[in-house]
Amino acid sequence: MGTDLEQVLVSKEDIDAKLAELAALIDKDYDGKDLLIVGVLKGAVMVMADLARALSTPVTMDWMAVSSYGAGTKSSGVVRILKDLDTDIQGRHVLIVEDIIDSGLTLSWLLSNLSSRGPASLQVCTLLRKPEAAKVDIDVKYVGFDIPNEFVVGYGLDYAEKYRNLPFVGTLAPHVYGG
Ligand code: XMP
Ligand code: MG
Repeated sequence: MGTDLEQVLVSKEDIDAKLAELAALIDKDYDGKDLLIVGVLKGAVMVMADLARALSTPVTMDWMAVSSYGAGTKSSGVVRILKDLDTDIQGRHVLIVEDIIDSGLTLSWLLSNLSSRGPASLQVCTLLRKPEAAKVDIDVKYVGFDIPNEFVVGYGLDYAEKYRNLPFVGTLAPHVYGG
């Protein structure tokens, strides 16, 4: 990626080790249960793929795509469903898998939307969280890394749809976004 990246924040090795840790917790918590993991497109694609393979618990997988109305990179909390689940989650154990929780507004909306469908349980797993950016208090059971309030890319996360395929999470050099 050359000079576009300022620094590697979370290496591929750190991601792999953390997902193995989280998978072990999830295996223990859902032992003997029927688990549906729900990835939030597009950012959670990498986390879903790697977490799912780290789990021993058999799971089914589904996807949602949501768009948050708001100016630029800021989330407004007003959310529109672009792609809904294919699965009826009533009575199911559901684990939402996210790439990153920033303000938490999108996830907060998603949690209330999915709870209204009557799942047996509803929890969240996120690879990254920015505690300083939180606008709502959300109980997230499985958190990979708390990171500083900076814009990050890679491992599913994009800047203008680029960098999603980087195997690590990094910060962008200011010249890339016009800084
Ligand atoms: P909120 O603020 O509602 O937003 O928690 C969550 C969504 O915003 C995107 N997001 C980012 N995307 N680098 C990105 O590439 C970031 O640093 C970043 N912070 C938030 C992301 O889609 C997330 O689901
Ligand atoms: Mg996302």
